[in-house]
Amino acid sequence: MDKRSLCLLLICINLCLVIWLVSVQQSPMLEAEIMADFGGGSSSITGSSTPSPPSQTQSANSGSRRSRSKPYQTKPSRTFSNNNNSDSSLVSSNTFDSAATPPAIRSQTPAPNGSSMQLMDLNNFVYLIDQPACDKDVRVLILVHSAVRNTEKRRIIRETWADRKYIDGTPLKVIFLVGGVGANAERWQQFLGRENHLNGDLIQGNFDDAYRNMTYKHVMALKWFNEKCSGAQLLVKVDDDVFMNTPQLVKYLTTPSLPEFAMLQDPQLMLCRVVRHSRVKRSYRSKWRVTYKEYPHRFYPEYCPGMAIVYAPDVVRRLFEAAQKSKYFWVDDVLITGILAEETGSKITPLKYYLEQKDVRSLLSGEADLEDPPFLFTNHAIKPDESMEIWQMALDRIQRPLLTPPASSLASASIASKSAAPSGWPSANLSEAPQQTIATGLS
Ligand SMILES: *[C@@H]1O[C@H](CO)[C@@H](O)[C@H](O)[C@H]1NC(C)=O
Ligand SMILES: *[C@@H]1O[C@H](CO)[C@@H](O)[C@H](O)[C@H]1NC(C)=O
Ligand SMILES: *[C@@H]1O[C@H](CO)[C@@H](O)[C@H](O)[C@H]1NC(C)=O
Repeated sequence: MDKRSLCLLLICINLCLVIWLVSVQQSPMLEAEIMADFGGGSSSITGSSTPSPPSQTQSANSGSRRSRSKPYQTKPSRTFSNNNNSDSSLVSSNTFDSAATPPAIRSQTPAPNGSSMQLMDLNNFVYLIDQPACDKDVRVLILVHSAVRNTEKRRIIRETWADRKYIDGTPLKVIFLVGGVGANAERWQQFLGRENHLNGDLIQGNFDDAYRNMTYKHVMALKWFNEKCSGAQLLVKVDDDVFMNTPQLVKYLTTPSLPEFAMLQDPQLMLCRVVRHSRVKRSYRSKWRVTYKEYPHRFYPEYCPGMAIVYAPDVVRRLFEAAQKSKYFWVDDVLITGILAEETGSKITPLKYYLEQKDVRSLLSGEADLEDPPFLFTNHAIKPDESMEIWQMALDRIQRPLLTPPASSLASASIASKSAAPSGWPSANLSEAPQQTIATGLS
């Protein structure tokens, strides 16, 4: 880099610092909010001293370190518009401006049924951040339900089971779903805009992102799949604290000799760990308390816990149509995979294996093997470092598919395989870099 551009860069950084300081002073309350949010979350991996989420999302793009010094100024386009020759990435940061503008209420009159602006009882539904429709080579769309402030969880997922270096060579596509940031949190809209600018994998609805609004998010997932990705073979809905074994799914999709290959072709598929005889929580202390008015019976119908569900397109369409006419009920998984599934005659296919907490431990200690038994999902709330370790194992496995070492030698195998031959799977397209990303994530 020559002296002139170095100078320009320094000026830029200084400018940024000044703007940042000014903007921080303007909203001390919000800053405190961010702090609190990240302190309580699962942020053990980075141990970073900066609470601001966008700097962390950048590590998902390994090559974008120069943007780390960028502050989160309110008007990036204006600030940098006359610095065109210094660093193109600074200038291009204004492209997310459109996403940062507050939602326009486009219509006060109710939209007719079937209109794209209807989402259950919301008549002015719009996507604040959207993605282009699926390419025709996408066979499985994975929609990850995430909260606006779960930046860290999304980052971990992008560095592990949704790593583009792996996913882009497979027929899978991963997108995160969030809701609106709510009042007094406009800066989060900018953070999300930035995050989407860097990763291109967010969809945001204009309903408030709130616990009792999760049903909107779930129906939005069905809607988006229906309208933008219905040519795919499957929709997977997962929560952002679940580890999804994407290589295992690819294996099922591409190995006709496996029974799962046929199962995943079932046009009536709704696959999950089924919950039966679940009693409705009426206790006032329960976070899940449901009033008799909301749901009158003692037990819920059979349903799929929302943390991980696999849907065939026909089932998505039926459930979406039923949801559009349904009364709102905030327990999204019960409503969609229980009540509405029953109404539309959709049957649950029980998923045999889940990786439970104890299985995660024995897997990581080397007592068990990734394929024994094979799993598609972990249970809830996997820790970031566990996620990283399991992903590393999965990568090692992909890179030496012909050898199946006994469980006890897994540790040594994982070291040896770093220099091993590339993938034998047709659609596992791994570049050399993933190990590097994960190593930096762990340090
Ligand atoms: C793997 O990636 C290369 C380059 O990115 C591409 O040309 C090739 O078609 C990919 N192979 C598969 C099986 O996706
Ligand atoms: C759910 O979203 C709607 C529409 O944005 C909003 O009016 C409502 O307050 C939200 N509910 C909660 C509990 O935040
Ligand atoms: C839309 O659907 C609801 C529920 O099915 C119905 O009550 C209402 O009349 C419908 N509105 C129109 C314009 O069709």
